[in-house]
Amino acid sequence: MNGTELVTGIGELTTHDESSERLHDAALVIGEGRILWIGPAAQAPAADRRTDVDGRAVLPGWVDTHTHLVFGGDRSAEFEARMAGRAYAAGGINTTVAATRAAPEEQLVATARNLRHEAETQGTTFLETKTGYGLDVASEERSARAAANVADVVTFLGAHIVPAGMDRRAYIDLVTGPMLTAALPYVQFIDAFCETGAFDVEEAREVLLAGRAAGLGLRVHGNQLGFSGGVRLAVELGAASVDHCNYLEPADIDALAAGTTVATLLPACDLSTRQPFPPARQLLDAGVVIALATNCNPGTSYTTSMPLCVATAVLQMGLSVGEAVWAATRGAARSLGRDRGADAVGSLFVGGRADLQVLNAPSISHLAYRVGVPLTAAVWRKGVRVD
Ligand code: NIG
Repeated sequence: MNGTELVTGIGELTTHDESSERLHDAALVIGEGRILWIGPAAQAPAADRRTDVDGRAVLPGWVDTHTHLVFGGDRSAEFEARMAGRAYAAGGINTTVAATRAAPEEQLVATARNLRHEAETQGTTFLETKTGYGLDVASEERSARAAANVADVVTFLGAHIVPAGMDRRAYIDLVTGPMLTAALPYVQFIDAFCETGAFDVEEAREVLLAGRAAGLGLRVHGNQLGFSGGVRLAVELGAASVDHCNYLEPADIDALAAGTTVATLLPACDLSTRQPFPPARQLLDAGVVIALATNCNPGTSYTTSMPLCVATAVLQMGLSVGEAVWAATRGAARSLGRDRGADAVGSLFVGGRADLQVLNAPSISHLAYRVGVPLTAAVWRKGVRVD
């Protein structure tokens, strides 16, 4: 095979293949976008090119499963007011809806592309994004199209809030009818924001079931600002993921542990909204699968940094470094149904996608140990070096 690349001199290799062990003095070979070989550096086969990473740590690229990259404007004034003491409320979304509707589609795509590139340079190799700042049929359709231009997976979030001036019942009929139909060609999942100020449990259920009937997977924004019932709805419907999970009763944790829904935690959003962190340690100890994601959006979490999320999960939420890195790679892949098979992401195995990153550090522990220091030294996505 022509064009193979040997990456050698790997001081610590995290594969998240079936074993959680980290390999030392390792190498791997990349060809045609896939991993062709993994093993001890001393036994590495010849390849067309050789990259020596000089003792650095190599791990799977981040899988960011919760972003809202298609938007116009910014909300820095709202952020500043929040930092001066004003509470976050779901209604701030209306500000971004107005700016998104006013922006040309090319501008929406350009903004989303820039954010995706920013994420890639920090090690993100697979990314989900949502609609949800259009909230009328034409604007959600173009948001979905713009998202599909930029992201690996797209989620329809017509049920973000009821837009200003619209009747609730009429809006839910729109979301479950013509808006869903318009977004459908571009999306794989449907989501609903189940929260005070957004949609209650029965409204969210109606939206999610309409999406399921149209063939979409389910995701839920739940229990971000209070005990909304979103977590238990997500588990009951077998949603792939319930995201936020800041306010959990013991029964929510039990339900997650007994179900198949991944709990996706969003530490950067919790920092930016000054919400209490989710009980991540309790979730893990109960056997719940967790994922970490950025929730990049202009309202509650304007960052693309998965390293920040990993470091915060370790330093503030009680995860070990290994648990946090797993949650940001393979756990995240699980929440998209992409953790197994030839198209799996979030793990490195022979025959799998060559989505990997090199840290400017000898071990993944430095992601939290050297918090705030940009450590991404190199990134390959589908075997191609990200510039
Ligand atoms: O995940 N929670 C709902 N959606 C976003 C917030 C969006 C906004 O305030 O613009 C979130 O935090």
